[in-house]
Amino acid sequence: MRNRNQKRKFIRLSYVLLLLGLFPTSTIARPFVLVLSQDDLNIKDPVTDGVSDSDPTDSDFDDFIDSDAKPDYELDPGSWSPIFEPSTNNSPYFNSSSSSPDEDVENNNGENFDLIYYLGVKKMVTAARRGDERGMAEAAMEIETAAAAGHSHSQSVMGFLYGMGIMRERSKAKAFLHHYFAAEGGNMQSKMALAYTYYRQDMHEKAVQLYAELAEIAVNSFLISKDSPVIELVRIHSGAEENKEALRKSRGEEDEDFQILEYQAQKGNAGAMYKIGIFYYFGLRGVRRDHAKALAWFLKAVEKGEPRSMELLGEIYARGAGVERNYTKALEWLTLASKQQLYSAYNGMGYLYVKGYGVEKKNYTKAKEYFEKAAENEEAGGFYNLGVVYLKGIGVKRDLRQACNYFIPAANAGQPKAFYQLAKMFQTGVGLKKNLPMATALYKLVAERGPWSSMSRWALESYLKGDVGKAFLLYSRMAELGYEVAQSNAAWILDKYGENSLCLGESGICRESERHLRSHALWWQASEQGNEHAALLIGDAYYYGRGTERDYDRAAEAYMHAKSQSNAQAMFNLGYMHEHGQGLPFDLHLAKRYYDQALEIDPAAKLPVTLALASLWLRKNYANSFMVEFIDSLPELYPKVEAWVEDMIMEEGNATILTLFACLLTVLYLRERQRRHAVVAGGGMAPQQPFEQAVLAGR
Ligand SMILES: *[C@@H]1O[C@H](CO)[C@@H](O)[C@H](O)[C@H]1NC(C)=O
Ligand SMILES: *[C@@H]1O[C@H](CO)[C@@H](O)[C@H](O)[C@H]1NC(C)=O
Ligand SMILES: *[C@@H]1O[C@H](CO)[C@@H](O)[C@H](O)[C@H]1NC(C)=O
Ligand SMILES: *[C@@H]1O[C@H](CO)[C@@H](O)[C@H](O)[C@H]1NC(C)=O
Repeated sequence: MRNRNQKRKFIRLSYVLLLLGLFPTSTIARPFVLVLSQDDLNIKDPVTDGVSDSDPTDSDFDDFIDSDAKPDYELDPGSWSPIFEPSTNNSPYFNSSSSSPDEDVENNNGENFDLIYYLGVKKMVTAARRGDERGMAEAAMEIETAAAAGHSHSQSVMGFLYGMGIMRERSKAKAFLHHYFAAEGGNMQSKMALAYTYYRQDMHEKAVQLYAELAEIAVNSFLISKDSPVIELVRIHSGAEENKEALRKSRGEEDEDFQILEYQAQKGNAGAMYKIGIFYYFGLRGVRRDHAKALAWFLKAVEKGEPRSMELLGEIYARGAGVERNYTKALEWLTLASKQQLYSAYNGMGYLYVKGYGVEKKNYTKAKEYFEKAAENEEAGGFYNLGVVYLKGIGVKRDLRQACNYFIPAANAGQPKAFYQLAKMFQTGVGLKKNLPMATALYKLVAERGPWSSMSRWALESYLKGDVGKAFLLYSRMAELGYEVAQSNAAWILDKYGENSLCLGESGICRESERHLRSHALWWQASEQGNEHAALLIGDAYYYGRGTERDYDRAAEAYMHAKSQSNAQAMFNLGYMHEHGQGLPFDLHLAKRYYDQALEIDPAAKLPVTLALASLWLRKNYANSFMVEFIDSLPELYPKVEAWVEDMIMEEGNATILTLFACLLTVLYLRERQRRHAVVAGGGMAPQQPFEQAVLAGR
């Protein structure tokens, strides 16, 4: 009895407050937080629910999925990988038309639409690179002929062109239709785009189905015994400035750290060999994926007895990634790794026993023992696998509560496979109360790790090579698929480099209004997904009327959005708007409250807030004095001052706040001067001191 109580307690604890972080916080705007309470549970009877008949899952849930290392162009048909990674994708598409076996759409003349498609995309990418409007127009025409004949991948690209307004008049409806038909025809990227469209419109029934399918493909591409490293979606900007630190780490073979590592590896350092192998195997840190090089490094490392490389060799042989699949060898390597206390290797061994691969016969008891061994040693994969064992009743009595109990710590450890299972429970209402929005959000996180995320690597690689136009095209495509980081990267590139004719619009190089509109739309999407910098920019755009009509109400709305994410600058701006009655009711009391909140969130805001409070005080006490009129005229002065501040002292950070305070400082300075009746020679010089302080405060 006591034992049972203890177990209860453990269960409750583990359900109550869960922080889920699938991605390291630097790559996601807002860490994803999932809070489950007892109310979310939907377990009728913890002992016998295994046989509940209303339960649609048995055929529905995946158990241990056969994990194949399929190339991108098979998992993600129509993928642009043959263009960007020809070496790892020995794709048939650039071969003559007869060579593609499962090829579908050919017209009477035997024209191969796949070929037209790939040549078209290649032309499009080249044109984007050089801002070549004629090339882009030709590419669009060629792709359109294939699309018109029903070639789904071409339809998907047309969806993109219509969605962005590239060489075609921007049209949400046409974009939707093209993606819809492309998705019907099996194009995964259009499925992503469509799912994201539904998701944005809160059409969860439709979104959840598409995301479920995509998430399943993503999960299938993961490793067996543990998580593959996150495909790094690098945010290339930090606020308004280039994110130099992140970019430095992504220079692949040219990065100094990588070269040092390589040097150490060549000197015989096994750990370094393993790391380099990982970089090549997954294509991390800007290194090109290269299974052959990876394998060579792992083989060297295992000679030195490096256990993590043994485990990966086990994975590689089990998946047949770049080698002939051989389960016997896989088991050998995994066993060797496990003997060196690398507990995650037990997951791989358990998997082989569940499937009966490379062993005499299936042995569920043994499999469970291995998973338990991994779990006892805090291996998240062990928890996940035990969850599946109980979910499916593999060698044990089916027990949903137990399954949940195991999935949750696995999810908390960031196991995307566990996210997938929880999403499925939320979707079907088995084990957890049906909750479609939650299921959609979880599936989306997993789906975004699917093979289509390779685009982010190519985009970053292009950006680092100075090929900003190509990077912009790729980030724009990913933006359409719903990747928040890509949305903000694309918007940022457009703001920063947009005048260099990399933006191709309806009929050639973007007009200024087109550019503003597109950047606005991208920031808007990023802001919807919790990017507070974006929310702030949207607010600014409305406040100053950039790229859109000046609209204080919408500015306030956007600032509110950023405020809900505890952004000090947004709070400050809200205070400012209350103080001036712009977009928000004139309310000095509320203004003060916002200023105070800004200070609470960000102590660095002290100086600005102090100044703002001073201006508030002025306004209260000298309502109609010339001082107040002067402050009110500041927004008109603003643009000039901003340019000056940026030229003079801004290296990083956003100029908005600073400029505002610079102005206020000037005001205070003038006031001080009046009060003292002091004559200051060279008045223009004096404010410099406070300016520098303001810069410090803004950081
Ligand atoms: C084209 O096909 C042949 C055989 O069908 C193959 O050997 C060759 O590698 C392929 N070329 C490309 C570029 O995929
Ligand atoms: C698989 O590996 C084992 C042991 O290394 C070897 O004996 C066997 O011949 C291999 N099988 C195949 C099909 O290559
Ligand atoms: C399965 O493994 C267990 C534990 O390792 C062992 O006791 C049992 O004999 C095995 N069963 C079969 C059928 O091999
Ligand atoms: C910061 O805010 C200003 C407006 O304030 C906006 O125009 C700009 O794009 C943002 N970036 C900068 C300067 O950080």
